[in-house]
Amino acid sequence: MQINSDKTLFWDDKKNCIVFVRQTLLPAVYKTAECGTIEELAEAIRTLDIRGAPALGVAGGYGVALSTFVHDDGNIEGFMRLVSDDAKYLTSTRPTAINLSWGINRVFKAIEDADSPDDARRVALAEANAIAHEDEEMCRSIGRNGAELLPDKCTVLTHCNAGALACWTWGTALGVIRSAVEAGKDVSVISCETRPLNQGSRLTAWELARDKIPVKTITDSSAAFLMRKGMIDAVVVGADRITRDAVFNKIGTYTHAVSAKYHNIPFYVAAPYSTFDAVRLEKDIVIEERSRDELAFCGERQLMPDNVDALNYAFDATPMELVTAIVTEKGVLRPPIAKEDLTRK
Ligand code: MRU
Repeated sequence: MQINSDKTLFWDDKKNCIVFVRQTLLPAVYKTAECGTIEELAEAIRTLDIRGAPALGVAGGYGVALSTFVHDDGNIEGFMRLVSDDAKYLTSTRPTAINLSWGINRVFKAIEDADSPDDARRVALAEANAIAHEDEEMCRSIGRNGAELLPDKCTVLTHCNAGALACWTWGTALGVIRSAVEAGKDVSVISCETRPLNQGSRLTAWELARDKIPVKTITDSSAAFLMRKGMIDAVVVGADRITRDAVFNKIGTYTHAVSAKYHNIPFYVAAPYSTFDAVRLEKDIVIEERSRDELAFCGERQLMPDNVDALNYAFDATPMELVTAIVTEKGVLRPPIAKEDLTRK
């Protein structure tokens, strides 16, 4: 089986810019674009051209590196102030996925003691590259750890896109599926379309079809019915943030977890330690609310009356008691989760 290993985003050493796959154009068009300014990167993140928690971590790291290249204040204090402002601005683009701020903070911390802008550029780029390469290793380990949990022949339901496009490559939830297939397991996938932006039907289905892993798309509201009919053996999803008491992931994940519990189907979350938030609890987390237009229009077509408002939460929280296991790069955690479980060892 030929599994594709393209990178979702990378640094162009000749132009000193970030090159990324334009995810909003998929599946119709596979095209890359460049960001050479912080505003262009912020826009790519806001519009979800760059999206998915681990990919946002990589983008955050490269974002700080980019900031060191776009500023040229000869004085290191003034230069660091400009980079710090960019770091804060990038952090504000998406509040729920913790990986974004994690990647930004990690690279910013690495350059805190730089003695010149050139030194900061060299260190920032090395650290951002390290985040990207580690992401692939983490996904491969998550994949191997999670593959062991799946039966030799099974159908897995997934939601949103926790695949190569949401990471640097390989994926977390789809990494588990890819690793299981690589290990010789016979895995088919049910991909929930994931309204309103359809990351499931556009991205997950595209990735799996490209790897020739059997996949069917369903409407989000079909999931419980398929479980009832015995058509789903396990649910595997990614995460944008994991606190001691809840898993934050794309809106609709909680509904699948409730349905899985009712039907006695294991509900697995696949995520690296960079997604863990050992400090906060569910009640402390800001859930990103997105524009009404995402619900009100499908392209040119109007789907709601003009005088009706929308509630467009991008993520939900699944309480830990509905989670069978969290698959990490270091092994499998089974709830209840203690604070110490969430700190990187
Ligand atoms: O709004 P998105 O597309 O960035 O949301 C992405 C998700 O919810 C993914 O499931 C999550 O980031 C896990 S990615 C490995």
